[in-house]
Amino acid sequence: MPPPSSGGATLAATAKILEGYSLASLGWHSPEHVHLLAEAWKRAYADRNAFLGDPDFVAMPIQRMISAEYGAERRASIRMERATPSEQVGPGLSPLKADGNTTRFSVVDSKGNAVAVTTTINSLYGIHAVVPYAGFFLNNEMDDFAAKPGTANQFGLVQGEANAIAPGKRMLSAMTPTIVVDPKGKLFYVTGSPGGATIITNVFQSISNIVDFGMTITQAMNAPRLHHQHLPDRIDYERASLSAETIRALEAMGHKLRDTYNPKELYPYIGDVQAIMVLPNGTLQGASDPRRGGAAIGY
Ligand code: DON
Repeated sequence: MPPPSSGGATLAATAKILEGYSLASLGWHSPEHVHLLAEAWKRAYADRNAFLGDPDFVAMPIQRMISAEYGAERRASIRMERATPSEQVGPGLSPLKADGNTTRFSVVDSKGNAVAVTTTINSLYGIHAVVPYAGFFLNNEMDDFAAKPGTANQFGLVQGEANAIAPGKRMLSAMTPTIVVDPKGKLFYVTGSPGGATIITNVFQSISNIVDFGMTITQAMNAPRLHHQHLPDRIDYERASLSAETIRALEAMGHKLRDTYNPKELYPYIGDVQAIMVLPNGTLQGASDPRRGGAAIGY
């Protein structure tokens, strides 16, 4: 049973921890059997007690909790001859980060009709409230305006009067849902990304990696990314994108650089491209960025 019962997740987590043993060979209720049950349960319950609750209120790391990989990690701390005191068995999962922000998808049908969609509530679900009878989430979209022209917004964008707040005016977005056609006007590629100010630069790279560098769709979206948005005056780079030598060469040209990796930040990476490409033989190939966890689906 799913949350708000912890039953299904804790049962599955127990099974994943214990699947590394041959319980039957230990003998039913032998000391070893009972020991392993107790060790598995204390680990599964440590996560249950720390992370599970009403799904209307908490985001839960259940996929990881019930994965074989995590079960193996938890199992590795079980000693066969000795009980691990419960105070030494903490929860092993990490809470899910509250997401919200920007949703992105690309669709192509069998006739070649293409849709690129990006929709945003900016950075958070806020108080998780949907406006009665209107059906949309309250959001923090006002930060996409230059609330105070010349001052950086949450994405560090320093914007001017053109995007100042005024009655009836819409805030400036960076959303870039894009349909790329070949020189004859035939559909070639559908792409787009969330990522605030970085949307434009990472959509550009997702196209240029294919068109200019001949990458496959998967290589193009897996490839580490770069970003520059005028101010702050620096190149942001995903760690794997630049060698130490290239960094030194860029610094010698007068560039400032920043490694974007910071586990404390909400977005320690650049972008989340969801794209579809038409291969030369007409086959559609979809791919989803590994950075956040989407999926490509074919019907
Ligand atoms: O429209 C915009 O440019 C912003 N509201 C996008 C925010 C965003 O992508 C946050 N997500 N990662």
